[in-house]
Amino acid sequence: MTEQLIIDGNKAAASDGATFDVYDPSSGGVLATVAKATRADVDRAVGAAHSALESKAWGGAPPAERGRIMIRIAQTLRERAEELATLESRDNGKPLKQARTDVQVAARYFEFFGGIADKIMGNTIPLAPGFLDYTVREPIGVSAQIIPWNYPIQIGARGVAPAIAAGCTVVLKPAEDAPMTALRLGEVALECGLPPGVVNVLPGMGPEAGAALASHPGINQLTFTGSVEVGIAVAKMAADNVVPVVMELGGKSPNIVFADADLDATAQGVANAIFQNAGQTCSAGSRLLVERKAHDALVAKLAERAKTMRVGPGVSDPDMGPIISKKQLETVDTYVKIGEKEGAKIAAGGSRPSDASLGKGYFYQPTLLDGVSPDMRVAQEEIFGPVLAIITFDDLEEAITIANRSQYGLVAGIWTRDINKAMTIASRVQTGQVYINTYGAGGGVELPFGGYKKSGYGREKGLDSLASYTQIKNVCVRFA
Ligand code: NAI
Ligand code: MG
Repeated sequence: MTEQLIIDGNKAAASDGATFDVYDPSSGGVLATVAKATRADVDRAVGAAHSALESKAWGGAPPAERGRIMIRIAQTLRERAEELATLESRDNGKPLKQARTDVQVAARYFEFFGGIADKIMGNTIPLAPGFLDYTVREPIGVSAQIIPWNYPIQIGARGVAPAIAAGCTVVLKPAEDAPMTALRLGEVALECGLPPGVVNVLPGMGPEAGAALASHPGINQLTFTGSVEVGIAVAKMAADNVVPVVMELGGKSPNIVFADADLDATAQGVANAIFQNAGQTCSAGSRLLVERKAHDALVAKLAERAKTMRVGPGVSDPDMGPIISKKQLETVDTYVKIGEKEGAKIAAGGSRPSDASLGKGYFYQPTLLDGVSPDMRVAQEEIFGPVLAIITFDDLEEAITIANRSQYGLVAGIWTRDINKAMTIASRVQTGQVYINTYGAGGGVELPFGGYKKSGYGREKGLDSLASYTQIKNVCVRFA
């Protein structure tokens, strides 16, 4: 059976009937066949999204009603958590327990933003006697959302929930590598009473459906998560129509570890930050900056972990699943070889697993590259795989310099018992989020998230994200 597009509340084949296959990265087998959206489908979906904005059922509904529907979506996601997590695990390859977390986080987005739907307020501005001036935060309109394959249901919910809380409508294009749970999200939303056309889901190829959506004159806002290269391209398309964009473009986030840290807790945090989702996380802690005095002890702990992690098919709930695709697997392996050539030493992993039963999937071992220097390519470029670049520093100033010597600036982790060191780094590191003695905060639905530098601009998550989905109207009244 072919998975259909969701346009205007209905399942639909692509306008030309075309489909594409979606693969299970744990086995290399076909998981599903999915309708491949065309430019004409994008056109229809954007039209449906506009009609929904104008409709009595959505545009004319009280904000509290939007919130009620969103709370139902959250409940339904939780009720169907096991089914959705299993599907996510098959589609993306991630361990079942990580997929379960993703579904809970997705539900939490609808709960969090469902609660704010009727509390999006403007201001009154003191002007002069005889004047009343107030602002209204109106929905920006049709939000186009292009999302990646690494956290489809989480990132789908992360964009859709604030958009619809604000009264917008959405055309969501999931990534061709993992579109399944975004489709389920669209179905759940409809079942929970979201009116037709409010959320349309169009799986398809980036250069076709993605580009048609980003360049569509009917969209009013664009939220993109993915590579820097494609982000720049879609921002240019949107610019032609004066459409504002939110860009979330990944990173090379440092975990900065001082010798006074609790090294057991640190090793666990650092390992999770790089090996979760096989390192395919925009906010992955892919650089370890460790104080020289703690280097040997921490690397030994990390190597012990990396070597004993169970790698296997996502649905068998291992410690780490496969890479998303053969292409991405090759990229990861190429980077490891580049690192070796640059002089890095492999302290764990460094190749595909030898286990023959994993031969058909796109597996790679948890890998530690030690002896990395800050200017090596493996320290500068986003690998997007389970590869940690380990860099040594001698003092606080050097740690800050290395941390900031990056084109990226998404997240930084700091591990120390010394509050002065922690706060000094927190104030000087050029990243959109800083974690001290923790990393990631279990999804961080409530916390504004986004990049400095080439990690992007605009903020998702938290109340700050609503700024992207509202536009401010100022009304000035003279009454005397
Ligand atoms: P990508 O940037 O090509 O894909 C992200 C999304 O953009 C997908 O939905 C894709 O269909 C769409 N897209 C691709 N080309 C497009 C175009 N011309 N116009 C409009 N939409 C387009 O990412 P890809 O190729 O899957 O991964 C490449 C690298 O990007 C990764 O190795 C990683 O470094 C980075 N990346 C970062 C992510 C993040 O979370 N920030 C997520 C995925 C990838
Ligand atoms: Mg691509």
